Amino acid sequence: MCGEAEHPNRRVPSHACRDAQGWLWVYSVPDVEPDSGPYEIPCADQKGYLTVRERIEMPGPLDAVAENALDVPHTAFVHAGLFRKNKDRRPIEVIVRTSRDRVEAEFVGEERPKGLVGRFLAPKGGEVFHWDRFILPCIAQVEYRLGERSHIITTAALTPRTPTVTDLFATVAVKAPIPNTILRTVVKPSAMHIVRQDVEILQRQTEQVRRFGGEEFVSTEIDVLGLRIRKLLREAATGHLREADEERRIKMLV
Ligand SMILES: [Fe+2]
Repeated sequence: MCGEAEHPNRRVPSHACRDAQGWLWVYSVPDVEPDSGPYEIPCADQKGYLTVRERIEMPGPLDAVAENALDVPHTAFVHAGLFRKNKDRRPIEVIVRTSRDRVEAEFVGEERPKGLVGRFLAPKGGEVFHWDRFILPCIAQVEYRLGERSHIITTAALTPRTPTVTDLFATVAVKAPIPNTILRTVVKPSAMHIVRQDVEILQRQTEQVRRFGGEEFVSTEIDVLGLRIRKLLREAATGHLREADEERRIKMLV
């Protein structure tokens, strides 16, 4: 321990850290001072918003967990009754926008979900605005605006722990025409109920992938984000991010 402070054997790699918005962020590349800060979580701890944070261990690789968090069609059966039911499905337009570091799906013409969550957030109904986003390197975000007064934005930072386990660090920011004390008693239990259903379906998917000896997914047009997420992750891994912005529109039953 004495002398030779600069000797390489005495030195471990250092990772830049930042304490921000209730989380400790660690820059994954050692011995590099990043030239920008971590992702800024929208609405967290802002006036008028109830903010809830939770770390959840999710089965599956990062891309599967991100797709699960952002996939709309699965809600009708994995979360039947909470958001929407199969029998209530109607066609809406989805605008998928891809840019260098992100992909976003905007859902146009969606009705207020008839399930419990929709009734709770917007008792009087109203226009629904809904976006799902994946932002490199690891942010999955779901944003809903219901009517004039309700806004819920869930931002999940994903960290791969093993090839089949991903840590999900969720920040839920909610504004609704309900006192925060009541909102608090409802938001966390309902979010955790939804998460348990997602954990179960991801666990089953992980088991099936293991059983068949590897992934061999088939996507359809309504899997609006999954392929893009995998492509963005591949591009980021090889350092070749595309410059071109793209927009496409499809119809989907939700
Ligand atoms: Fe889900």
